[in-house]
Amino acid sequence: MWSLILHGGAKEIDPEEEEAHRNGCIKALEAGRAVLAGGGTAVDAVEAAGRVLETDPTFNAGYGSALNSDGEVEMCAGVMEGRNFNVGAVAVIKGVRHPISVAKAMLHEEPILLASDGARRFAADKQLELCDPADLVTPQQRDLASKSEAKDTIGVVALDQYGDLAVGTSTGGLDGSAPGRVGDSPQPGCGYYADNQLGAVAFSGDGEHIARKALAARVMQELSARRALSSGQAAMAGVEEVLEPSLMEVEAIGGEAGAIVLTPTGKSGWAHNSREFAVAFMTSEDNHPHVFVRKRDEGR
Ligand code: GLY
Repeated sequence: MWSLILHGGAKEIDPEEEEAHRNGCIKALEAGRAVLAGGGTAVDAVEAAGRVLETDPTFNAGYGSALNSDGEVEMCAGVMEGRNFNVGAVAVIKGVRHPISVAKAMLHEEPILLASDGARRFAADKQLELCDPADLVTPQQRDLASKSEAKDTIGVVALDQYGDLAVGTSTGGLDGSAPGRVGDSPQPGCGYYADNQLGAVAFSGDGEHIARKALAARVMQELSARRALSSGQAAMAGVEEVLEPSLMEVEAIGGEAGAIVLTPTGKSGWAHNSREFAVAFMTSEDNHPHVFVRKRDEGR
């Protein structure tokens, strides 16, 4: 059995942009599905789906990333494997096409996180795709360079047929941020976490708030408490309930967030306090993509 869930960012999506978000999520889901259905690993599925989202300028990751206050793209990404707690992350990286692939390449290195020029040098050493930093800025962004527009992270969580969980995040950060700013997305326990015994989670939203409250770590505590309460599936009946306390925490301090989660049995859940949060999920059991732009569209 495999299971896959991904999101395109906790943010406001204008009605005319909804289709692009749905289509982008479906395309990414298909890339991850192809890996998992072909017997590939969760971490490879996370990378495959993440690269599609990074390529699509609809999303704030890779090409089309938010611009900092200098009008430049600086990106962050994190990947984690739930079997062995390997973490790979990059922060404030410029001029790479796929930060999620650089983060994945970091999984088996001694450091868990490289930043800035060192991260780009690592990507070059691993022969990952480099580019001119300006190539990540879309023509529309150049035209709107002075206009601030809230945008957010992408995230993917996968369970493979071997029982391994993996999670990945990638972001251009928040529009107009100070150069060098790092949010939740590359920090394990803040923007993401994976543990084969408990589950895996990816956050999106106001990175400072998410990091201050270590929201991914809180979700893992919730998952752990539920596991202790009951070994049965009933404990996971409404898996998004594990996300609610974290979202309330961030809302209480004035922040916006969304999160996706997978349990070790492949049950997925998602929740958000942002107006929209495009999410897509699929399992080997129904082999059918489910795509939503906001939670209330799910009809529960
Ligand atoms: N959640 C992305 C960031 O704050 O950088």
